[in-house]
Amino acid sequence: MIGGTRINLRAPEFIDLDRNQRWINDREATRYLAGRYPVSGLAEEAWLRNLVSSPMSFAHVFFAIETKDGRHIGNCGLDALPEDRKATLDIIIGERDLWSRGYGTDAVTTLLRFAFDEMNLTRSR
Ligand SMILES: CC(C)(COP(=O)(O)OP(=O)(O)OC[C@H]1O[C@@H](n2cnc3c(N)ncnc32)[C@H](O)[C@@H]1OP(=O)(O)O)[C@@H](O)C(=O)NCCC(=O)NCCS
Repeated sequence: MIGGTRINLRAPEFIDLDRNQRWINDREATRYLAGRYPVSGLAEEAWLRNLVSSPMSFAHVFFAIETKDGRHIGNCGLDALPEDRKATLDIIIGERDLWSRGYGTDAVTTLLRFAFDEMNLTRSR
């Protein structure tokens, strides 16, 4: 568990399945994300099973975002390409009623602190 000010980041778990499927099929929440096609329950389950049964690694970092009282409200992650010395960051606060309360900012700040302090990513000029 990686602690931020308002949120904690934890490893994804299979029990997150229903929430993840709801969020990935919410067109408002995914408007700016790469995926645009509806995702079936089976496809989401296969994706999550694969994610949670593989160890997290430098190349693929994925965290569930929880409020301090343990409510899973979104996900965030990094896909790092060491050869390019770059990582792309993804984030979704899936619970839309919790937008604009500072959770997204704190999740990104916490994720970047992990990236720079623990993954040894460096900011390029
Ligand atoms: C983007 C997102 C993570 C922000 O989380 P949040 O908890 O609502 O954000 P915070 O409360 O910490 O910060 C809100 C600030 O982000 C800004 N913001 C929200 N969405 C934004 C967007 N798409 N582009 C630019 N700024 C955005 C708000 O205007 C607000 O700015 P302000 O503080 O100057 O008023 C959340 O709205 C979300 O999950 N959206 C759907 C998924 C998505 O678009 N992810 C980003 C692409 S990877």
